[in-house]
Amino acid sequence: MQLERILQKHGFGSRRECRGLVRRGRVAINGTLCEDPFVELAIDGLVFTVDGVDWPYAEFACLMLHKPLHYECSRKPKHHPGVLELLPVALRERDVQPIGRLDEDTSGLLLITNDGQLNHQLSSAKRKVPKIYLATTKHPVEQELIDQLLAGVLLTDEPEPIAAAAAEKVGEHLLRLTLTSGKYHQVKRMVAAAGNRVEALHREAVGELQLPADLKPGEWRWLSADDLQKLDYSR
Ligand code: URA
Repeated sequence: MQLERILQKHGFGSRRECRGLVRRGRVAINGTLCEDPFVELAIDGLVFTVDGVDWPYAEFACLMLHKPLHYECSRKPKHHPGVLELLPVALRERDVQPIGRLDEDTSGLLLITNDGQLNHQLSSAKRKVPKIYLATTKHPVEQELIDQLLAGVLLTDEPEPIAAAAAEKVGEHLLRLTLTSGKYHQVKRMVAAAGNRVEALHREAVGELQLPADLKPGEWRWLSADDLQKLDYSR
């Protein structure tokens, strides 16, 4: 594929703008400066560099973000900055979107992609993708709270009680909860319905994919082939 086309596909502007980037000496291929925008490159394993930043060739952009507190996941954030502002412009230009949402006051693992199929698979209610949360509670975590969450609690506007797939006490005021559905404010509403209150919420994992300990709030990284394997809910 032509370099100019590759850059355009990766969010670096129009074909003309991409040509300009290359001609101005801002692009390297596998570490070597390349000033020919029309050079044909094999895309398999290709890494190109723009202004010193490496970009792996990626048909779709699939990444994880450690969502910090006080960022909104909505397309048009109202009261706080949007999570997409934490990404480089070239990624935002590729029309990436969060897979599901975390509340403004929830931190943790947020997946972001422009791959509609992946987004659909991971958000579809049918697939029952487990999401693991750590909730800090106002009152101590009693066995009764765990029992109620596992048995199912009735939420306003829901026809049936909803049960957690797993719930365990991990500290006096700390609860680890696994949910396989993703309703609005679900953890907070379930815990409230069981007589306690969530004071802080953090998502630790989606399916088998854990938020890496070395990914700081506000940082993002590409999903590796191994990560994507862990998120394969296609069957
Ligand atoms: N449940 C909530 O209440 N909030 C979140 O952000 C995610 C799950």
